[in-house]
Amino acid sequence: MTAPAPSETLMEAIVGLCKRRGFIFPSSEIYGGYNGFYDYGPLGVELRNNIKQTWWRDMVHRRDDIEGLDSSIIMHPKIWKASGHVDGFSDPMVDCKESKLRYRADQLFFSPVIVEGETIGYVSVIESPEQQEIAEKAAAELKRKAAKQGNLEPIVLKEYTEAKPEEYALVPSPATGKPGSLTAPREFKLMFETKVGPLADDSAVAYLRPETAQGIFANYKNIVDTGRVKIPFGIAQIGKAFRNEITPRNFIFRSREFEQMEIEYFIAPNADWRALHREWIDTCTDWLVSIGLPRESVSEDIHAEDKLAFYSQATTDLMFKFPHGIQELWGIACRSDYDLKQHQEHSGKSMTIFDEATKEKYVPHVIEPSLGVDRTLLAVLTAAYTEDEVPNDKGQVEKRTLLKFSPKIAPYKAAIFPLLKNKPELVEVAEKLYKKLQRRWNVFYDASGAIGRRYRRQDEIGTPFGITIDFETIEKDGTVTLRDRDTTEQRRVTEEELFKFLEEKIDG
Ligand code: GAP
Repeated sequence: MTAPAPSETLMEAIVGLCKRRGFIFPSSEIYGGYNGFYDYGPLGVELRNNIKQTWWRDMVHRRDDIEGLDSSIIMHPKIWKASGHVDGFSDPMVDCKESKLRYRADQLFFSPVIVEGETIGYVSVIESPEQQEIAEKAAAELKRKAAKQGNLEPIVLKEYTEAKPEEYALVPSPATGKPGSLTAPREFKLMFETKVGPLADDSAVAYLRPETAQGIFANYKNIVDTGRVKIPFGIAQIGKAFRNEITPRNFIFRSREFEQMEIEYFIAPNADWRALHREWIDTCTDWLVSIGLPRESVSEDIHAEDKLAFYSQATTDLMFKFPHGIQELWGIACRSDYDLKQHQEHSGKSMTIFDEATKEKYVPHVIEPSLGVDRTLLAVLTAAYTEDEVPNDKGQVEKRTLLKFSPKIAPYKAAIFPLLKNKPELVEVAEKLYKKLQRRWNVFYDASGAIGRRYRRQDEIGTPFGITIDFETIEKDGTVTLRDRDTTEQRRVTEEELFKFLEEKIDG
């Protein structure tokens, strides 16, 4: 019997397990933590690397039309001018003058409270799956305190960015519950600034990249000139990105330092971009499913045409059911020739390509699938976290927590156990097999404690297979027991069968 944990406690359970078992720690924890930054421990770094390696393998190595790149984090500041980030990469923020807390104005919602046609005050809430319910409760409380009789009109929440200037002083601060301390929304620049070189003046200002994509555009010409690419082709990059997010939150979902896996897929200007966009949406969805996300937890959010940037032809976000709600995981945008044309104009270098097939010269258009590593990791943890009940060594039913990671991305692929640690003949065979498996995959050896407890420890960190060396192994036919983490079923296999099985599950 398996049942996912109730959603209201799921995030807490995941955060707790990540800390307890060494997946993810708050950054600088010995100094009280540092908001928006996280450190990945021994298991976290394995999971993270496996996600990145699987993505790279599937998007770069197993395709003939995509090349890889690793560009520098700090690039010429003119790149960010050309891309529009220097002038436009900001979020609307609102400050509470009393509490000194800062909110993203598009994550702060408010509504007038109207009783029998009379506005008796306002309520405000921070964006959450329960925001409507919280606002309605607050409105009912306001009505009760104001001792108003009659009909309370429905609460219709609006983003604070849509508030009229005369409403700023009337909307209560979520921090204090009182009106009068919120400022008007102001644009807050998200790029981290730094200084490069010995001069400390404005000419030394540079930026930590807020996306890896611009490194691709900046190198597009190099790759066209040195590689053997032909349209359509893509350039892929995995790397760190930095954003001074106003409200980093929901664990690693929105942080200030994170990692992206981005592709710029260059196509002819007259290509059927709608069909190619659809192809990318399907490829990306299938990839998420291939690393263990249930297809039914992934949905599509098609951006309304009137909300798109002027250069954008279409954007569809792949959404995932995170513990805190259905949110963006992977953005897939058709960005026309905007970025390359901007760089052509600002750098003075031609961004045209000669299309051998059509004998035409043009600046290609681009489709951009852009995915966060950390967000993928949170999605994977969300999908994998399970609590169920299984019999223990004595046949009594026990609660267990397990992470149902796909073998492709699990930190440890298998754990090897000698049935008893005080039997040298078992230990010797187990250690030999462990060393052999370790040459191929990241595997774990554990000899201590009751076998049931050893299984549970591995279940909790998502190790898909347990391999036990028992007396049958050494006294009879050399077979070992192979235990499946999810079903707990065990079967005997030969060493040859074991390697074949693992190869299929892990590398298939
Ligand atoms: N080049 C396009 C671009 O960067 P984006 O929608 O801003 O687009 C793409 O970011 C992806 O990067 C998001 O879908 C998300 O997975 C991830 N991402 C963005 N901001 C993030 C943050 N603050 N923390 C973690 N992941 C983030």
